[in-house]
Amino acid sequence: MSKDAPQGRMVVPGDPRPLGDGELVVLRDEKGRRSLIVLATGSTWHSHAGALEHDALIGAPEGTSVATPKGVEIIALRPTREDFVLKMQRGAQVVYPKDQAMIVALADIRPGMRVVEAGAGSGALSLALLDAVGPDGAVLSVERREDHAVDARRNVERFHGGPVPNWTLEIGDVADVLASTTAHRVVLDLPEPWLALGGVATALSPGGILVTYLPSVPQVMQITEELWGHGGFSDVATSETLVRGWDVDGLAVRPAHRMVAHTAFLTRARRVPRREDGGPALPRKRRRSLPVD
Ligand SMILES: C[S@@+](CC[C@H](N)C(=O)[O-])C[C@H]1O[C@@H](n2cnc3c(N)ncnc32)[C@H](O)[C@@H]1O
Repeated sequence: MSKDAPQGRMVVPGDPRPLGDGELVVLRDEKGRRSLIVLATGSTWHSHAGALEHDALIGAPEGTSVATPKGVEIIALRPTREDFVLKMQRGAQVVYPKDQAMIVALADIRPGMRVVEAGAGSGALSLALLDAVGPDGAVLSVERREDHAVDARRNVERFHGGPVPNWTLEIGDVADVLASTTAHRVVLDLPEPWLALGGVATALSPGGILVTYLPSVPQVMQITEELWGHGGFSDVATSETLVRGWDVDGLAVRPAHRMVAHTAFLTRARRVPRREDGGPALPRKRRRSLPVD
């Protein structure tokens, strides 16, 4: 299996039509190992589990299970966004599905909104944002590295089966792009989001929401200080999301031994007018966590 998701026609999981020639499907074995393949008449899929003829799946309902000659059961399903993201080619580290979901929730991203995100990276978060805003919304993804922009475009267009009318990918520094655009929401997955705060404040109207995604504690300390220090942001709060699977097998019910624990911290802030323009006072009891110049 190449590390790149193969190019195939994407049909929405749960579509009542049978699996078809040229469709992208995810094959899963009994241990949960997943492979993305494109079904092709007359082809054979080879793996540790043994060979599987594509023709056994083409024309069959989604969810059909076939045993390989080695006796391994393989189930064929249409890939969810999570299946696709975990198998697609990545230049930059992606935002994992558990965090994508929380970003959409914390930023209160709804159908019809305009969202600016950076950096586009591998396009994983772009896919989640596009689903959240729907066809009546718009996502502007900004990426300063051309090679990462190529990855993001390939992944987003592969998932959508071609160009996406309400998605724009711009190459540049998000601080500059934000200074001349507007948005309901801004999501920043880059190492120094504080450098873009001036632009965020320009792009967001009062009430708008910024979410940053940062892996380390010093970064969270800095963005928090900078957000409060700016004067145009309120409700600054940080959280992280831990998702623990459980093994449920009859009376043997226990937490899974392994989990994806730390990925990154989410810091959310609301755009508000500055105090002198009628906005709220900064919290009085706030302790300074960083030395002030
Ligand atoms: C961790 S990756 C983003 C991954 C992406 N969110 C995803 O889910 O696939 C961070 C990206 O931010 C880009 N970047 C860093 N600083 C930037 C800036 N000031 N403006 C635009 N892009 C930036 C980097 O080139 C990198 O591709």
